[in-house]
Amino acid sequence: MIKQIGHTILKLDEVSSTNDVVKRLSKDDEEHGLVVVAKKQTCGRGRQGKVWESYDESGLWFSILIKPNVSVLEIQTLTLILAVSMVEAIEKVTQIKCGIKWPNDLTYKGKKLCGILCESVFSGNYLQVVVAGIGLNVNQKKFKDELKDIAGSLRMYRNRRVDSDEILQTFITILNPYYNTLVHKGIKTMLPLYKSYSTVIGKRVKLIEQGREVYAVVLDVNDLGNLEILYDDGRLKEVCSGEVTLREVE
Ligand code: BTN
Repeated sequence: MIKQIGHTILKLDEVSSTNDVVKRLSKDDEEHGLVVVAKKQTCGRGRQGKVWESYDESGLWFSILIKPNVSVLEIQTLTLILAVSMVEAIEKVTQIKCGIKWPNDLTYKGKKLCGILCESVFSGNYLQVVVAGIGLNVNQKKFKDELKDIAGSLRMYRNRRVDSDEILQTFITILNPYYNTLVHKGIKTMLPLYKSYSTVIGKRVKLIEQGREVYAVVLDVNDLGNLEILYDDGRLKEVCSGEVTLREVE
């Protein structure tokens, strides 16, 4: 029997990054499903080496220790179900219906509310642990100038404080059956759900590939969680999330 995600929730005040804490604990043989949540992070990090602003208590900052029962190839599909679970948790608690900008940014009215950073720990060729770190902007009233055009928080759209604990509990309850389905049946049965929340399928997007900007139409997201795109010059390609940065265009 796989342990449930969230069987233990470790609540800390201030850490460097909850991903680092979970990585450290995974070396001490902590079990699959441990969740570490912190009020503040001094070195929160995002994808592509970016800083994740989480110096105060206004957000929900947490990481999950996952000992994946899926193949390395399918690891991206894990992030898809994390994103789906968070979309549904947010809707249940706040009635805000966000979308998913592939692979796993949650957006609302064009602003990013939530990001997911999955980091893998290998032992030789064997994928031992995935640390899934999730940052959700919950109660920020405003963002600093560099972020104000791209980031939003739940409070900004609800005009009231939102309970981060309630979101976390709801997220865990939704995630567990999805995780079990992923492990036993693969992503196939859940892809339609992911796609129903996608903000990019069928849209023209800008891709940044090795520093170059190109335009393409997103055709689909496939069973590996990769994006199938049609470039403006007619080429078809399948891209994985590490390869490109994607921007929505009007
Ligand atoms: C992104 O760039 O969109 C991913 C952001 C992930 C942020 C979360 S907050 C909890 C966990 N700890 C970190 O240092 N990062 C992740």
